[in-house]
Amino acid sequence: MKKIFIVANWKSNKTQLEAQKWLQELSTFNFQLLTSKEIIVCPSFIHLPLMKAFIEEKKLPIKLGVQNISPFDEGAYTGEVNGKQIKEFAEFVLIGHSERRKNFFENDEIVNKKVEQAIKYDLTPILCMSDIQQIKNEKFKIMVAYEPLFAIGSGIPDTPENAESIADKIKEILDPIPVLYGGSVTSKNVKKFTQMSNIDGVLIGGASLDAQEFYTIIQNT
Ligand code: PGA
Repeated sequence: MKKIFIVANWKSNKTQLEAQKWLQELSTFNFQLLTSKEIIVCPSFIHLPLMKAFIEEKKLPIKLGVQNISPFDEGAYTGEVNGKQIKEFAEFVLIGHSERRKNFFENDEIVNKKVEQAIKYDLTPILCMSDIQQIKNEKFKIMVAYEPLFAIGSGIPDTPENAESIADKIKEILDPIPVLYGGSVTSKNVKKFTQMSNIDGVLIGGASLDAQEFYTIIQNT
């Protein structure tokens, strides 16, 4: 049975209290039958200490990720959070999300520097892409999330068949790496994606904000 990755991208959402409530609710659910699933939650940086402590205390089978990483090492880079700092709390890092490419002008050069920093600090990069050109020159072992622009936050996912054919192309270029699909994934459509042979999991934005819905997504993969 293939391992399924379920990655929550909270984006710029939740106060500390809301993050705590989400975790409390999630911890009431049963995770015993879900051992072939890798659950990764990517909150805002400020929630990492509290969430790490909670996850360890309750022994929840959840790993932490972040949504960004500095393209530089530690030093005089005001406002940045670097790989060494992230490594204290998290194991995964989303890089090159289309919202960062669009709103923060991240180009392939910056994205590549971020991937290099993640690798340097032994974090697993989850490289987000909407276009196959964005991974053509990738030289590191990474995970890739295919997220078509039209599907992000729109309620209109790609077809599982198209996502599968893109995942297949990604693996032709970067094999063997896990490929995720992201864009309007919910508990109702998740299975259609994860049952595809080349899709190893999902990256979930909006639907991950609700603990019950997120748990149902995990169950339904
Ligand atoms: P969505 O976002 O699930 O809200 O469409 C996915 C993403 O941007 O990672």
